[in-house]
Amino acid sequence: MKICVLPGDGIGPEIMAEAVRVLKALDLKFELEEGLLGGCAVDATGTPYPEATQKLAREADAVLLGAVGGPKWDNLPREQRPERGLLGIRKDLNLFANLRPAILYPELANASSLKPEVVAGLDILIVRELTGDIYFGQPRGIEVREVNGEQQRVGWNTMIYAEYEIRRILKVAFEAAQKRGKRLCSVDKMNVLECTQLWRDIAEEVAKDYPDVELSHMLVDNAAMQLVRAPKQFDVMVTGNMFGDILSDEASMLTGSIGMLPSASLDANNKGLYEPSHGSAPDIAGKGVANPLATILSAAMMLRYTFGLEAQAQRIEAAVKQVLAQGFRTGDIFEPGTKKVGTREMGDAVLAAL
Ligand code: NAI
Ligand code: MG
Repeated sequence: MKICVLPGDGIGPEIMAEAVRVLKALDLKFELEEGLLGGCAVDATGTPYPEATQKLAREADAVLLGAVGGPKWDNLPREQRPERGLLGIRKDLNLFANLRPAILYPELANASSLKPEVVAGLDILIVRELTGDIYFGQPRGIEVREVNGEQQRVGWNTMIYAEYEIRRILKVAFEAAQKRGKRLCSVDKMNVLECTQLWRDIAEEVAKDYPDVELSHMLVDNAAMQLVRAPKQFDVMVTGNMFGDILSDEASMLTGSIGMLPSASLDANNKGLYEPSHGSAPDIAGKGVANPLATILSAAMMLRYTFGLEAQAQRIEAAVKQVLAQGFRTGDIFEPGTKKVGTREMGDAVLAAL
């Protein structure tokens, strides 16, 4: 089991150190190799996704990533910016399936902007297609054309999905649903977009291979409403790149605690890149106060989806629940009456719970 570890920038190295300690405590036979991605890679090599990192990432079974970016690199040309490294590695590894759980731990019910009774116990998984759709479709552009007898600027993009792209993301979503509550809601806009009519047709076809999973469909505008009205109706949601971009951010905010949310991005063979949903938090970097739980939970997702180690994944998740129940809180989730701890102490608490 080869894991490529990319701590990245800002709080990345601090939170990654805790995730690595947790992995090592499990006594599994991992090979961990560290590399540079993002701003740290720009500083060392002049490029955000250097060749040495490409080699490590391609040879590994999984990549565990902290976060990249920060004000230091904000004025670089687009090609050299840390975020390019992130896009580069996702594309290079063909990571087309993005899995983002939104879980609200009962102890953190007050962190949500919604009423506790609406969100307490929330546990949904959003599966977003990551390499197709209108973000990548050709043709695209802005140009001056004659419109209504007048020269003006026109902008256009193309929403496009091939059958194989829709099939493979639906397969990932059905399989994820099988491992959870066995309900899958496919989100589209078939009433106005042909591309998503195809999506819905293929979802019906793929569903025949998963008779144990209950498939439903929802239009994206309604899905956006339902997520804030009654989010607990969902188990797994699957959708295209653009709708998924928006809905997954909406869903993550239901939990109110960005420091708690892991994510996975998978290829067709369950090779994956695992990272917290948050960024490099330059405002608190180097202070030892960042919440390492999103990264630790990302490592648990890695055990589940790439290595098939469900029991070990659950061990980590149970340890995280336990430290929350014991009252340990980093600054981002602190409430009066709980124990405020730093990054390292939170890691210590998880290790003790394990
Ligand atoms: P951010 O997620 O880094 O920070 C937003 C707010 O949440 C900040 O107040 C931060 O202190 C807090 N926060 C984030 N993670 C936390 C943690 N684990 N514990 C405690 N508090 C935490 O988003 P922001 O500020 O928009 O971006 C900062 C930098 O990160 C930018 O350079 C951005 O491009 C980059 N970024 C990188 C991502 C990645 O590597 N996947 C994703 C999002 C942003
Ligand atoms: Mg987004």
